Amino acid sequence: NNTFSGLFVGQNLITLKEVASTNTFLKDALSKSTPLLEGTVIMAEKQFAGRGQTDNTWLSEERMNLTFSILLNPSFLRVDQQFEFNKAISVALIDVLGTYVGDDALIKWPNDLYIGGRKTGGMLIENIVTGNKIKHAIVGIGLNVNQTNFPVSLKNVTSLKQRLHKDYDLLVLLGEICSAIEARYLQLKAGHTKKISLDYMNSLYLLNQRASFKTKDGFLEGKIIGVNSSGQLEMETPGGRVFFNNKEVEFIYE
Ligand code: BTN
Repeated sequence: NNTFSGLFVGQNLITLKEVASTNTFLKDALSKSTPLLEGTVIMAEKQFAGRGQTDNTWLSEERMNLTFSILLNPSFLRVDQQFEFNKAISVALIDVLGTYVGDDALIKWPNDLYIGGRKTGGMLIENIVTGNKIKHAIVGIGLNVNQTNFPVSLKNVTSLKQRLHKDYDLLVLLGEICSAIEARYLQLKAGHTKKISLDYMNSLYLLNQRASFKTKDGFLEGKIIGVNSSGQLEMETPGGRVFFNNKEVEFIYE
């Protein structure tokens, strides 16, 4: 398949008609010591128990969207460098989405992909660690592509089709994503973390913009000024500079 133009990511593509979760499927295979090539992709036509961040579920209409997981073995990374990995995957996804929607595609820290201020996709990266190294990374990606009706429980979501009024070929898009992830992953492996970080910052949703946020202590007016090397969100607030971990701060939509 010539849309899979890389060397290893996506070269071994396994499509499942139905599975609980492609991330869980890969994790189970690894725990049974199934030999799997690096870059193997498990794609689901239907996921009936898709998982999102912090025990959320990931809902996706059957065969309308991309729901897949990629196996990578970034054993050149220490556990404390896992956010570097997150950044490389995030910018790869923006590399692709940007070709469709330009600057409208942004990364909403820490794991969401936004188009025009609405959630279009998410990542769930799960690591298997040995010693202090990341032995395997299961990169789970859900991307809303051709779905145009969303359950009312899902707020502030969109899809490529809803945005651009066109249908997209899922395999073509998957091929583009695999190539982009491979390129960014090799860039990371080669140590070009500065370039990745710069591209990440340039695609960060709400960077340097005043906005309202919700934290456990209440509402907060502030602006995002960056993300530190441990992946914490850095904000400037009336009370000074503060750092947040995932789920400690929520964005408020008008
Ligand atoms: C999030 O936004 O909370 C992350 C969503 C990640 C969803 C993808 S779909 C493919 C892979 N398998 C899963 O169970 N989850 C990820």
